[in-house]
Amino acid sequence: MFYKSLDSKPKNILEPPGPKHKFLGANAYFSFLTDGLSFLTKLHKEYGDIVMLKASGHRIYLIADLKYIDHILVRDPENFTKGVGFQRGRIILGNGILTSEGPFHHSQRKMINPAFHRSRWELYFSIVRKSVHNLIADWKERIKKENVLEMHEEMLNLFVEIIFSTAFSEDKNKRLCDCAKKFGDLFHKLNPIYLLDPHKALKLPFPSINRIKKAKEDLDNEIYKVIDKRLKENIKRDDILGIMVDAKDEDGKQMSREQLYDEIFTVYMAGTDTSAKVMTWGFYLLEQNKKDAEKFLKEVDDILGKRDIEFEDFEKLTFTRLVLNETMRMYPPVWLLPRTAEKDFYLDEYLIHKDSSIFITPYLLQRNPKYFENPEKFDPERFNPERKKSIKKFSFIPFGAGQRVCIGEGFAMLHGAVILSLISREFKMTLKKGHKIKLSSSLTLRPKYGVKMVVEPK
Ligand code: HEM
Repeated sequence: MFYKSLDSKPKNILEPPGPKHKFLGANAYFSFLTDGLSFLTKLHKEYGDIVMLKASGHRIYLIADLKYIDHILVRDPENFTKGVGFQRGRIILGNGILTSEGPFHHSQRKMINPAFHRSRWELYFSIVRKSVHNLIADWKERIKKENVLEMHEEMLNLFVEIIFSTAFSEDKNKRLCDCAKKFGDLFHKLNPIYLLDPHKALKLPFPSINRIKKAKEDLDNEIYKVIDKRLKENIKRDDILGIMVDAKDEDGKQMSREQLYDEIFTVYMAGTDTSAKVMTWGFYLLEQNKKDAEKFLKEVDDILGKRDIEFEDFEKLTFTRLVLNETMRMYPPVWLLPRTAEKDFYLDEYLIHKDSSIFITPYLLQRNPKYFENPEKFDPERFNPERKKSIKKFSFIPFGAGQRVCIGEGFAMLHGAVILSLISREFKMTLKKGHKIKLSSSLTLRPKYGVKMVVEPK
């Protein structure tokens, strides 16, 4: 797993294999944005663990070799930024820790880390549990009239509640959540072509663009109302915003109201969609794999019975956590980790040019038969302590790796276990007859037509 430094020049410099014809720039990007997964899967199958292609003269390297991933994400992260897509995305996402770079990112991440520390989990646990109880009560009423629910939408709405309850506690309000749900819905339905250049797209006089701009404006207003009230009235609260407001950088400086907004908006964007996808795919996979579902339900019954879930149960729900891992192996919401090379460097005999794009693809790694036996099979036990030993480092990276690793990883696993166990215990969920499941890979890996389930009380 080791090779020379990125700077040491090899004797023979080679160009990585890849398609020889030149891609028409926008076409290549468009086929990538609309069905990037099939596009990259084909390239990987044909050319192997390092592939180079050119689009409009721009070099793109698809990298699936574990030793190179170690170097890019963990050992030499300073040589790579998150890439042009994230830079362009700043017009929507702002300059929070998902998009910022270099010393500013380090400093912000240091200030925000305490909000996601293990010591906070118990507090967040009770918030998640309350939100799930509310959802269960709501479903019980709704399914009396209509028992087909679309899981992806249900989970997205649930996570808006969860994320803003943990971020804003008592200041979370209905209008704020409604605005966040509306913006999220429009954003994820936006034609991916707009993401090629969001700056230009936002200037287009189209109704869909106007709707999304208005939704963003409404959400921004609601978020700023909470931030401004806290700052003006010096209100102290034990939540994510409270930690951010009190945080100081190395020079003792606190975040501006604009930076607080960017970081809160980032947590909302990074935390809702990803988590909702895992839950949606999790319910789907359990429905499709009856034996595993039985085992999972038995565990929930053995540990919880009819009583409510407690924080300590998280550790005991071992099979439930295996189910979550296996779901993220098969359907990693963040299916692509893009980076940009900040200088020329070498991967063995390959020269990787400055300013080129590098794509690391958790989906391809996690479905690769080289790393996972029967990769298309849902097999949660592959993550049990014994079998897990054979999983190679960096072949399973649903949360990324290195200094840009997901800040919400622990939190995500915790709420995943609460949601899966409490909802599955309460309802029988079956895929609606004839409903088509199709994978779509735009920003995250999503079910193109949603996951429609018939939900019945047990
Ligand atoms: C199962 C659910 C989740 C998955 C699969 C996931 C996945 C990821 C991945 C792969 C990255 C790294 C991206 C990169 O390196 O380019 C990331 C970063 C991040 N995630 Fe998550 N995430 C999840 C849940 C959450 C939650 C619940 C939160 C917050 C409440 C969150 C907040 C963030 C933030 C702020 C970053 C940026 C970190 C940085 O660059 O310093 N994520 N996530």
